[in-house]
Amino acid sequence: TAVTLGIDVGGTNTKIGFVDRHGKCLASTHISTGADEPFDNFLKNVFSTVEKLKEEAGEIEMVAVGVGAPNANYYNGKIEKAVNLKGWGEEVAIADLMQDYFKVPVAITNDANAAALGEMKFGVAQGMKNFIVVTLGTGLGSGIIVNGDLLYGHDGFAGELGHINVVEDGRICGCGRRGCLETYVSATGIKRTMFELLGDNNGKSTLSNKTFDELTAKDIFLAAEDGDELAKEAFEVTGEVLGKSLADTIAIFSPEAIVLFGGLASAGEFITEPTRRSMEEHCLSLFKGKTRLVVSNLEGDNTAILGSSALAWQEYEKRQNA
Ligand code: BGC
Ligand code: NA
Ligand code: ZN
Repeated sequence: TAVTLGIDVGGTNTKIGFVDRHGKCLASTHISTGADEPFDNFLKNVFSTVEKLKEEAGEIEMVAVGVGAPNANYYNGKIEKAVNLKGWGEEVAIADLMQDYFKVPVAITNDANAAALGEMKFGVAQGMKNFIVVTLGTGLGSGIIVNGDLLYGHDGFAGELGHINVVEDGRICGCGRRGCLETYVSATGIKRTMFELLGDNNGKSTLSNKTFDELTAKDIFLAAEDGDELAKEAFEVTGEVLGKSLADTIAIFSPEAIVLFGGLASAGEFITEPTRRSMEEHCLSLFKGKTRLVVSNLEGDNTAILGSSALAWQEYEKRQNA
């Protein structure tokens, strides 16, 4: 079977898997990214892990490799200024180095861009030509598809929706600035909101005795499901902020749909209901009711791998047709 190798590089873990043309993951695993380790160690670890995976996967022919990662530049194949990965320096030429080793085409892109390609090839966005995927994990990422193609912009990094300013002098962001969307809308953002609400309403929640590090976005979801008013309020606030930013985004790109992807998106109606309401409320009347808000239908632990592998398939097909 022809397969591509999909690699999703996260700040903590890197997921690796072989995926066939239909989006079936034939074998997958994950390794620690090793945030403080030199890039060379990481690369060696990836190579030996792939060799082991090959044995597990049986009869396969690997035709291309796709890598998704924050700060990955499709244009030059480099991961630039990966602030969370201290051992990686200013930039790493990851695509060239992998291509030398694997001897097949290697393409890289931003992790949320990869998610958008995954939705277009295997998920809810099949057949769509204009849509935006918003990934709600530790941070907030976006992949913007315009006329069937990813929007890269002048330097390859277009679509950093997580870092548009939503609150003047607001919460401090990992990027060093204040008030970015992802400080309110992400797994970390909703925790920060929950903590503010807990501070204002001492004791009136089942989550009151958790420390910040103990609390997860999932806990907030479970508490909301159990009827906890403050947890529900945390989702309301998060959706309100997200919907307003999406309304602005719609005015620029006029997408057919916005697809919510990743951890927080699995909170279902708790997040979609306030987001949709706020989005419609703040939308320019020209755009009202025209953009659907949907949740990713890719399931399981391999969704990020599917995105990177969709990039690899796209690259493979481009070269076949060239
Ligand atoms: C980064 C994006 C990334 C997102 C999700 C953000 O903080 O700026 O590039 O896609 O997190 O990982
Ligand atoms: Na992006
Ligand atoms: Zn920021």
